[in-house]
Amino acid sequence: MAGSLREPPSFTPGSSSSSRDTDDEGVRGTCEDASLCKRFAVSIGYWHDPYIQHFVRLTKERKAPEINRGYFARVHGVNQLMKAFLRKTECHCQIFNLGAGMDTTFWNLKDEDLLPTKYFEVDFPMIVSRKLHNIKNKPPLSNPIIELHSEDTLHMDGHILDSKRYAIIGADLRDTHVLEEKLKKCNMNTQLPTLLIAECVLVYMTPEQSANLLKWATNTFETAMLINYEQVNMGDRFGQIMIENLRRRQCDLAGVETCKSLESQKERLLSTGWETASVVDMMELYSRLPRAEVTRIESLEFLDEVELLEQLMQHYCLCWATKGGSELGLKDITY
Ligand SMILES: C[S@@+](CC[C@H](N)C(=O)[O-])C[C@H]1O[C@@H](n2cnc3c(N)ncnc32)[C@H](O)[C@@H]1O
Repeated sequence: MAGSLREPPSFTPGSSSSSRDTDDEGVRGTCEDASLCKRFAVSIGYWHDPYIQHFVRLTKERKAPEINRGYFARVHGVNQLMKAFLRKTECHCQIFNLGAGMDTTFWNLKDEDLLPTKYFEVDFPMIVSRKLHNIKNKPPLSNPIIELHSEDTLHMDGHILDSKRYAIIGADLRDTHVLEEKLKKCNMNTQLPTLLIAECVLVYMTPEQSANLLKWATNTFETAMLINYEQVNMGDRFGQIMIENLRRRQCDLAGVETCKSLESQKERLLSTGWETASVVDMMELYSRLPRAEVTRIESLEFLDEVELLEQLMQHYCLCWATKGGSELGLKDITY
């Protein structure tokens, strides 16, 4: 009998949130921003995602076409690299989505029959509680987890759910000791090829804290790949405006130093134990998108501000890095 998500047979009381947890309101707010933007772009046909509607309500506010195109390129870029990793490992692997917010990749991969051995998500405990609330109450989200779970009991509390193929964990990524402890309880396997995804997350930590997390990953996993999407070229005027806009919303880009250039992004990866590292800015990535897809999305909305789109795209980048895995061909993965 599969476990039920509404009435968990085994219940473990939640751990108290870390003291830092209360100081990160602005950073947690970025989860709302990202999911609202994705929800809007999906609603007008940029890409297909039948699950995001269960996590985010559509608001009346329209997002600008340049924002939607930016999100399209971001989601496309991350998905392409992730699927290349899944192909190379034949899905015999684990994925860690760090700072996952309301990400829906697990459900979409299941529909495509591309699930890894286990898919983990990590975010602040408060965000995880919100996500778990939706998962518990919406059958299109809970059913796939239950279906894949062959045992009687599902381990669940306010900040954690552990099942056979999916786990979500409330933890602060800046504290790798606690993070590791929680992941171990959810049966992370350090011997399995491991993909870590950080989509707009590392920039909210100081360079030391993100380096610590990245070193932890290369020290822990024998074979690993990282996909990191975040800001770049932040030293110029446009970058300064981006920083100020976020600061006004109480959100500090503590890691902006590492986002100075493509070189500084690459350097961070190579100095934290990754053996190969590649970076492209999103304008370059946009120019490499499949032509048919570009024609399709560019016909969805009229874009007036071409220059603004270019400036935005030049201030974000997609990075990927590998450690080990030559026999699998991980080093050959490229966008
Ligand atoms: C911009 S949102 C991106 C969410 C998701 N990756 C996406 O692209 O849709 C950043 C996410 O990282 C999480 N985050 C930032 N710093 C974190 C930390 N130190 N520990 C755990 N989660 C963190 C935030 O709570 C938020 O959900």
